[in-house]
Amino acid sequence: MTATAAPTRAQVQTFGNFVGGAWRPAASGETFENRNPADHDDLVGRFASSGVEDVDAAVTAAADAAEGWRRTTAIARSTMLHKAATLLEARINEVGRELTREEGKTLKEGIGETTRAVQILRYYAGEAQQPTGEHYPSANPLTLLYTAREPLGVVAAITPWNFPIAIPTWKIAPALAYGNTVILKPASLTPLCAVRLVEALSEAGLPPGVLNLITGSSSVIGDPLVRDERVAGITFTGSNAVGGELRKIAAERGAKLQLELGGKNPAIVLADADVEQALTQVVNGAMMSTGQKCTATSRAIVERSVADQFTERLAERIGALTVGDPLQATTQIGPLIDADAADRVAREVSDARSAGSTLLVGGERLTGGDLGRGAFLAPALFAGVDPASRLGQEELFGPVLGVIPVDGMDEAIAVANQVRFGLSASIFTRDLGKALAFVQGIQAGIVHVNSETAGAEPQVPFGGMKGSSSYSREQGKAAREFFTQIKTVYIDPPPAT
Ligand code: UN1
Repeated sequence: MTATAAPTRAQVQTFGNFVGGAWRPAASGETFENRNPADHDDLVGRFASSGVEDVDAAVTAAADAAEGWRRTTAIARSTMLHKAATLLEARINEVGRELTREEGKTLKEGIGETTRAVQILRYYAGEAQQPTGEHYPSANPLTLLYTAREPLGVVAAITPWNFPIAIPTWKIAPALAYGNTVILKPASLTPLCAVRLVEALSEAGLPPGVLNLITGSSSVIGDPLVRDERVAGITFTGSNAVGGELRKIAAERGAKLQLELGGKNPAIVLADADVEQALTQVVNGAMMSTGQKCTATSRAIVERSVADQFTERLAERIGALTVGDPLQATTQIGPLIDADAADRVAREVSDARSAGSTLLVGGERLTGGDLGRGAFLAPALFAGVDPASRLGQEELFGPVLGVIPVDGMDEAIAVANQVRFGLSASIFTRDLGKALAFVQGIQAGIVHVNSETAGAEPQVPFGGMKGSSSYSREQGKAAREFFTQIKTVYIDPPPAT
């Protein structure tokens, strides 16, 4: 790994909140630091450490802008989203690099994610021009009866660090396209990508107050933001624990809520699978972005007749992954998001060993040489995982894969479904009948046959079943369900005179 020169204090930029169309510091003047997870000596920037006053200012700005924005035409909103896409596209390499520097996924993934954000902006620029209402027959022959979709008003988007530009974009783009005003609260570990996205959108011509950004600690600003009566909708991606709190708050005050939570995603490998394809897809699904995706594969459920051989080859592949500085082209696996996360996952690995699972490779903190300055962990593979164990049930959010051997399809599906989550799932087989049985039987919102569990194209719904979401879906046309409400209109002629 090449050392990244630590910038001097003077070189480190300080970024503010974006409220009512202006960049400004937190009311307190306080800031917090954002550091590179691959190198704790590399300070990415300082960001506004917001308080309750800043939340109030952002919600006020969004509420003041709501009526004006609602009345702009969808065509004008589409034009702004197109322009933002073009602005961000011109900066893909630079923003992708910043993403890698603050989040730790490889540069290829950082640039790939930024490209995805551009595609999402374009998709919703197009979607804004699509019809949203419906025309109905009426019992009365003269009545013009139709529905129109209206925005919710002010929405709060609370986003995680693991997709620091794609997830804010897939929440904000449809929110704006359908005429809502927004307060974005990004994860404190990755605020720079949020700043870059807001810059592109504001430069594209969004009126003041339509999009507001407040950075800072969730424990300080999360609660006042989601409890503010002026916030009509809350969209959140993150942990089940926070999701549970949000359910209560939203239910109490009648806010509309959308949750995208955890996953414990299975990849079923049947005896007739193409082994190369299954190996590549399972390893990518488990390990890309250092396993820190809610869609990551964390359970390989393998038919017993091929389990030993498949596990052995998985171990070879996983053991051979190059872990290091994600800015280097040869690196395949970057750090975890921070040292706490790497220590936590290393502890989970050692607990799983103590609980009886067999660790075949990895799982230790990597601290030699330059790696010692970052949050590195060797990607881990367990064999003989008990589906009911913690390792078989809980989302570890790191580069840890467990193999569960099973006797045939029925057991594979039963084991796959035996968790509280239901986000994504894969099967590897050449047997069409078994593939269809899997598609029908699996409890997951996103189902793959012969491809990895992670990944999300912008034009289709994204979201999970059971504990992985709140039944709502993001992206595609599904986003319209969350970000709009329906007005049913009866128009009758006045009596003839
Ligand atoms: C993907 O698999 O590319 O937080 C997207 C997450 C998900 C997004 C996954 N909401 O990991």
